[in-house]
Amino acid sequence: MSTLITNIGELVTNAPDEAGADGSGGAGGPGGAEGSGEAGGPGGAGGIRGAGGSAAGSGFAALSDAALVIEDGRIAWTGSASLAPAADDLVDAAGRAVLPGFVDSHAHLVFAGERGAEFAARMAGVPYTAGGIRSTVAATRAASDAELGGNLRRLAAEMLAQGITTFECKSGYGLTVSDEARSLALAAQVTPEVTYLGAHVVPPEFAADPAGYVDLVTGPMLDACAPHARWVDVFCERGAFDADQARAILAAGRLAGLQPRVHANQLGEGPGVQVAVEAGAASADHCSYLSGSDVEALASSGTVATLLPGVEFCTRQPYPDARRLLDAGVTVAIATDCNPGSCFTSSMPFCIALAVRDMRMTTQEAVWAATAGGARALRRDDVGRLRVGSRADLIMLSAPSHAYLAYRPGVPLVAAVWRDGRLLAGGA
Ligand code: NIG
Ligand code: FE
Repeated sequence: MSTLITNIGELVTNAPDEAGADGSGGAGGPGGAEGSGEAGGPGGAGGIRGAGGSAAGSGFAALSDAALVIEDGRIAWTGSASLAPAADDLVDAAGRAVLPGFVDSHAHLVFAGERGAEFAARMAGVPYTAGGIRSTVAATRAASDAELGGNLRRLAAEMLAQGITTFECKSGYGLTVSDEARSLALAAQVTPEVTYLGAHVVPPEFAADPAGYVDLVTGPMLDACAPHARWVDVFCERGAFDADQARAILAAGRLAGLQPRVHANQLGEGPGVQVAVEAGAASADHCSYLSGSDVEALASSGTVATLLPGVEFCTRQPYPDARRLLDAGVTVAIATDCNPGSCFTSSMPFCIALAVRDMRMTTQEAVWAATAGGARALRRDDVGRLRVGSRADLIMLSAPSHAYLAYRPGVPLVAAVWRDGRLLAGGA
């Protein structure tokens, strides 16, 4: 069963190498069609438009007047519409843009309750602190599995409808052995990118014994949680966990087979980024307050800087300096951080618009960061790009180009969403 999507005004592939410097449109897929486009420059039929990626070989790239073929859940062919092979089904994009599905590498979706009043108070001048997490912890502990699972599935569906086809999901609102383990078991039902965040904050019952809590997180809680998770995370920040505690938590997680990622430098400068880089973390997330040596450490490491501009919007804090990171050669991802406290959005287009408007990323950089960048932050190479062999996770916009995601902020532009080659949301 194959599907040809043709008449695509702009096909964002994030695969400049595959398209070729001469503008050839893609590798031949099943059926032997050659994806060679015209050698035209930007805007030419089948021409490639590149630039804007943030690390060597990983840049934004797009084809105009393009087509793609989906077969068995994978991309089988990309190239110029005029050269597209036949397929069982035909979708006419009528000049609209097609992009890789968004890859949201940072979200906290297992929780109960809400914090609308905290948000309202913040907008009236009360600063954001890590302390608010504890009210969600209380609500989460009191919730049934059915309640937590229902909330989680509702948020996952909300994300999918808005074009997020891969998302990471953390625990961190249970903070007991059983509540963390059930949070992760629920998360594993909706995504393979599951993160153990027992080290979100020290819960109230350990307020007088934070070292005892670290022992729990690195001991019995880890044993119960590791089977459900791929990643281990720690909130390394004043008011949460210090550098030594964070190192111990990441090292224990690694011994249990989990790969590290870190909440770093969200509320002020601190050791988080350095701890992440030392640990070989896939990603240091937030990066709102960075020293020169933090930027250098990120630039010379394989650690992605995941920026969460929705958090700065919702906490009214200064945005991270994305340009400084990009100019230094750091790989940048954008994620939603969807959670009930610091940022309750599930909209990647909103985060892209903020990144462009308020963090001075180009539209190409922001879209790359929300797709291929997110994939890098999750160490995935099967998503975030549309090249032959990629997972057929893609979205069609009711707009002719990726730039509309920022140009038309707040407008629901995601018209159709395919995951594993299946149309799951919207209509073509
Ligand atoms: O990523 N920084 C720590 N954790 C979340 C916020 C959680 C909350 O306020 O409930 C974050 O922003
Ligand atoms: Fe977070």
